[in-house]
Amino acid sequence: MDNTLIELKNVSKTYSTAAGDFTALKNINLKVNAGEFVGIIGKSGAGKSTLLNMINGVDQLTNGEVIVRDGGENISVHEMSEDGRALWRGRKMGVVYQSFQLLPMLTLIENITLPLDLSDNFKPRESKARAMQLLQLVELEEHANKLPAFISGGQQQRVAIARALANDPSILVADEPTGSLDSITADHILDVFEHLVSDQGKTIIMVTHDTSLAVRFTRNLRITDGELEHEGDSDESKKVDKTMRRRRK
Ligand SMILES: Nc1ncnc2c1ncn2[C@@H]1O[C@H](COP(=O)(O)OP(=O)(O)OP(=O)(O)O)[C@@H](O)[C@H]1O
Ligand SMILES: [Mg+2]
Repeated sequence: MDNTLIELKNVSKTYSTAAGDFTALKNINLKVNAGEFVGIIGKSGAGKSTLLNMINGVDQLTNGEVIVRDGGENISVHEMSEDGRALWRGRKMGVVYQSFQLLPMLTLIENITLPLDLSDNFKPRESKARAMQLLQLVELEEHANKLPAFISGGQQQRVAIARALANDPSILVADEPTGSLDSITADHILDVFEHLVSDQGKTIIMVTHDTSLAVRFTRNLRITDGELEHEGDSDESKKVDKTMRRRRK
């Protein structure tokens, strides 16, 4: 049976700027199965955030198709309006943004109850308890009533992760979710992600520039100058992946 959950077909993205057009993604083809923990690894400027923004519908592609299975239906994300994509994303996906994007005037717990209260996935009286559980998961429950400005960048990143999980989405799309974390906290977050995949059947696509994290994913892809290289595409990529696996043992 075809287990494809997310499919990108010939996806390109060209940004128009005052200095001219810039193609940040070139003909990307990608299939992600339900239950995968996919890592997309690339250097700064490679197109990682742009690629995630095509998958979660934050931005509109220039060419190609993005199809996400939702229940029994195939949703064509690229054909939706911006508002349609936002509504769909709120229901279907958890998104961890590279810049966290917490609301500064809301406390940490309010940042997490907000998406819960905007959706009807949980009853209003359950939302506070659920938000507290998620803060516990990222070990920040004692800061629940603080404003984001009063915690560190790494702590804000963990709140952003908790918020992304609020509505118990089947898909999590995370942009450098460990970028501001020390290695022990990053390890803890990756353990949480692994657990979501292996025990709860979630599907996670995570972007990072940190090649040492490759061992944590069920599949690795590399992105270079807007082009996606699949594991095993070339001898060179195989060599790199093998070296990383050996290092972990
Ligand atoms: N809104 C935009 N307008 C014009 N160019 C953009 C825009 N967003 C990104 N770019 C360019 O597209 C390329 C890819 O950017 P992107 O943010 O996707 O890279 P990235 O891999 O996420 O980098 P980083 O690791 O620094 O977050 C870069 O050259 C960037 O300058
Ligand atoms: Mg980025």
